[in-house]
Amino acid sequence: MAPQVEIRVLKTPAELFRTAATEFAAAATEAVCTKGKFSVALSGGSTPKDLYTLLASGSVRNIPWEKICFFWGDERHVPPDHPDSNYRMAHETLLSKVPVRPQNVFRIHSEEKDADAAALAYEQTLQTFFRLGPEEFPRFDLVLLGLGPDGHTASLFPGTPALKEQRRLVVANWVENFKAYRITVTYPVLNHAACVIFLVRGSDKAAILREVLDNPGADLPAQKVRPAEGKLMWLVDQADPEL
Ligand code: 6PG
Repeated sequence: MAPQVEIRVLKTPAELFRTAATEFAAAATEAVCTKGKFSVALSGGSTPKDLYTLLASGSVRNIPWEKICFFWGDERHVPPDHPDSNYRMAHETLLSKVPVRPQNVFRIHSEEKDADAAALAYEQTLQTFFRLGPEEFPRFDLVLLGLGPDGHTASLFPGTPALKEQRRLVVANWVENFKAYRITVTYPVLNHAACVIFLVRGSDKAAILREVLDNPGADLPAQKVRPAEGKLMWLVDQADPEL
């Protein structure tokens, strides 16, 4: 089944992050009402910082923080106190500022020297939390994603082995450009989500965004994120006047 795809172009970055915060709050409230908890996979990089800061500001009300279970779509192979850590960024901008229960924060233990072991451990964390049987995939209520200048998302980079993974939930993906591993969830995890939101900001992303949205033949990693029984939403700012 093809996903419901929605592309929303917001006039300003402020509107972009307010819209994303409102979508986050609505998804959280709905999941907590229907299931008693909300599972979200956070994205890293720089773009979501303003979203996390806005969510932490309290200007979007009635977010059931105690019932939210936080995961990550990917992580750099660094300790949690490292400046490049996606966990650290989310902790500093959001998790340390709102009443989240520590037992509901499931970070990737990327301080583990063996990246494969870190990936396997996180896979087991997902299997336990979502009570998965063999060959089952977790259904996140919400997955937040960004878009890299090369069309990558999470840590699914062009030309890397993780792009082909269809059985594992989480893998250590060697990224030659960085000469480093990234720990990332795989396409089956992204495509089993109830809702995926891409958050894209800035004129430097205009060209790649156009490729992803308008050129199906481009074969870019972000183009393969198509939640089979879920919603796909692109929240982008009007950096590209032609959008
Ligand atoms: C990461 C992210 C990555 C990010 C894009 C966009 O760990 O870096 O998961 O996929 O979303 O690289 O990054 P910016 O938001 O910094 O442009």
